[in-house]
Amino acid sequence: MTIVLGIETSCDETGVGLVRDGELLGEALASSMDEHVRFGGVVPEIAARAHVSALVPTVREAMRKAGVGPKDIGAVAVTAGPGLATALHVGVAAAKAYATAWDVPLYGVHHLAGHAAADALEHGPLPERSVILIVSGGHTSLLAVGDLARDEVVHLSDTIDDAAGEAFDKVARILGLPYPGGPSIDRAARDGDPDAIAFPRPLTGPRDPELGFSFSGLKTAVARWVERCESDGRPVPVPDVAASFQEAVADTLTAKALLACERQDVRELVIVGGVAANSRVRSLAEKRAADAGITLRIPPMRLCTDNGAMIAAVGDLLVRAHATPTPLTVTAHPTVPLTRAQLT
Ligand code: KG4
Ligand code: ZN
Repeated sequence: MTIVLGIETSCDETGVGLVRDGELLGEALASSMDEHVRFGGVVPEIAARAHVSALVPTVREAMRKAGVGPKDIGAVAVTAGPGLATALHVGVAAAKAYATAWDVPLYGVHHLAGHAAADALEHGPLPERSVILIVSGGHTSLLAVGDLARDEVVHLSDTIDDAAGEAFDKVARILGLPYPGGPSIDRAARDGDPDAIAFPRPLTGPRDPELGFSFSGLKTAVARWVERCESDGRPVPVPDVAASFQEAVADTLTAKALLACERQDVRELVIVGGVAANSRVRSLAEKRAADAGITLRIPPMRLCTDNGAMIAAVGDLLVRAHATPTPLTVTAHPTVPLTRAQLT
């Protein structure tokens, strides 16, 4: 069985994982998040420089934790896109160097396929057919997925504007909560009332596309509400705003995800990506899936946000599917949509 080393550098996390036959052997993660806090978002150049200095130590740490040496590694997988161009280039160049030095095949991997594959590390092989809701900082999509390593991924819907995670990050800024916004809002919402403010549920009207997503209007609704509060001289009830906003997002995401399962006649729903770490998204999805008799799979929180294990997991699926390795001419694809798990 081949041990695959996976490298992830699409945003601010330098992630490395080692996977063999669906089993995570070890992983390590370095993050430049603290360096971005004062800018309120990821600064690509800072992220890229941090990847350059963190990459080799993170690879070494993951290998040490897995108890493997260079001779044990049979393939290298790397996020080739989408993501920040400067950040992606660091991982792609490093992966080529390792693959060349160790004389093993290289697999370019789509970052979002990684989010989906992460769940297989926890819950075993992905179902033959499933609906996957990907909710991250840059993407919000409902996908019909078969064999992730072999089949094309069908997009049932993609957000028409902001991604769910982006909305969390922007609303956190409006509320003066620190970056990254998702965890800050999740925390603030614990002390708030989710029914305090009736924020809109985007694209849920009778004339709207039933699986469509849009989060820009919801973010604006929160901004207007906060502005009105401030102009009236009232203190902003941050926990209530956070809880009510979070409820609107969780309600919309989970309702549409379950509807997609019904429309696709699929009994398995997988929710992945950074926003799948949200406590309310998790609890509401669990309740609604149970009510609908749908089997729900959500990776543990540490595998929801970006990491290297998920990229190794895709590499492992590709190796086992006997996919042709990616040529060493592969480069970064900052905006590539997810149609296949492998990128060349
Ligand atoms: O998947 P991810 O780590 O990176 C991308 O591929 O984008 O997702 C990052 C996003 C950020 O927008 C972050 O605010 C959000 O996931 N996020 C959360 C939570 N943890 C991370 N959103 C809501 N609740 C959370 N607990
Ligand atoms: Zn991600």
